[in-house]
Amino acid sequence: MSSRNIFLDVDTGVDDALALLLAARSPQLNVKGVTCVAGNVPIEKVVRNTLDVLEVAGASHVPVARGMEFPLVEKMFNAAEIHGENGLGGIDLPASGSTVIDRHAVEFLAGEIDNSSEKVTIVALGPLTNIATLFRIYPNVVSGIEQLVIMGGAIGSGNTTATAEFNIRQDPEAADVVFNTDVPTLLYVWDVFTRVRFDKQEVDEMIGSDNDCKSLAGKLLLSYLTTKKEDTAGIGDAGAVACLLIPEAITTDVMPISVELIGEYTRGQTVFDQRKRKLSRLQPKIQKSISGMTEVVMDLDVESFRNTFVDNIVK
Ligand code: RIB
Ligand code: CA
Repeated sequence: MSSRNIFLDVDTGVDDALALLLAARSPQLNVKGVTCVAGNVPIEKVVRNTLDVLEVAGASHVPVARGMEFPLVEKMFNAAEIHGENGLGGIDLPASGSTVIDRHAVEFLAGEIDNSSEKVTIVALGPLTNIATLFRIYPNVVSGIEQLVIMGGAIGSGNTTATAEFNIRQDPEAADVVFNTDVPTLLYVWDVFTRVRFDKQEVDEMIGSDNDCKSLAGKLLLSYLTTKKEDTAGIGDAGAVACLLIPEAITTDVMPISVELIGEYTRGQTVFDQRKRKLSRLQPKIQKSISGMTEVVMDLDVESFRNTFVDNIVK
C-alpha cells in the first residue's frame, strides 16, 4: 500500500496535537513536513508544541518550519482559554532536541511543491495565513496541489462568534484569498468537527495505555474535559486528517463559498450558497454572488472516525 504524501499546517493547540499524532502514526500517510502558523497560541508556542508532539510520535525527522506570526489584517486574539497558556492544555512534554528548519514555512512549502514529482496534499488546521501568503507569493504552486483539506468555517453557528469559526475569524482575509484560489478543497467545518468525541471512561483508558501516543492523546482529551467542563471531548482537527484515511466515511457536497469581511456581527462567517439552482433573479441587482467553490463535509460516520483515531495512533 503506497502512502499519501501530506503537509500539515498547524497552530498546535490541543487538537492540532491530536491531528499530528494521527497523521504521524498512520501508515497510509507520509508526513513530508509541518508548517506552523500563529493561531491558538503565539507562533513560538506553536513551534515548541509541534516539535515536542512529533518527538512523542516518533516523527522528529519530519521538517518543521516556522510561519506567519500575525494575521494578514486582523489583530491577534489567540484561544488560550481553550488550549491553555502553553497551547497543550498545560501538559508539559519533554523538550524535543529538534529545531525548526532555517526556511520560512511559505518558502519551505513552495520549494517542496516545486520539487515534488507528484502533486501534494496540504492539511490546514489553523488560520490560513501561511496558505494565503503561499498562494500570493507563488501562485503557480496551485498546479502542484492535489487537495487542500481545511479545518475551518461553519454552516450553522460558529464557535468564536455566533457566526464565525476560529480559524477563519482569526484571519478572514487569508481565508478569502484561499477560497478564491482555484485549488481542489475539502472543508471540514465546525458542524462535523464537534461530533467525533470520547467520554471520560474512554479517555482514562487511553491515559492508562503503555503506548506513548495513546497516553498523550488521552491527556490532551482530558484537558478538554477539564477546560470545557463537558462530559465528552472531541478530537477536533484530527477529524480532518481522518477524512484522508476513511474517505468512504464522509458525505460531502460541493457549493459556492464566500467569507464575510465587513459585517459587524458576521466578520469571518463562511457564507455558503446551498440553493441547488439560483432561485432569485433579484440577487445580481442587490448584492454580489457567492463566488468560490468548495467541497464541504456535510456528514460523517462517527464510529468509523472514533475507531480510526484510536486504532491508528497506536500503529
Ligand atoms: O475552531 C476550531 C479550530 O480553531 C481548530 O483548528 C482549533 O485547533 C483552532 O485552530
Ligand atoms: Ca488548529
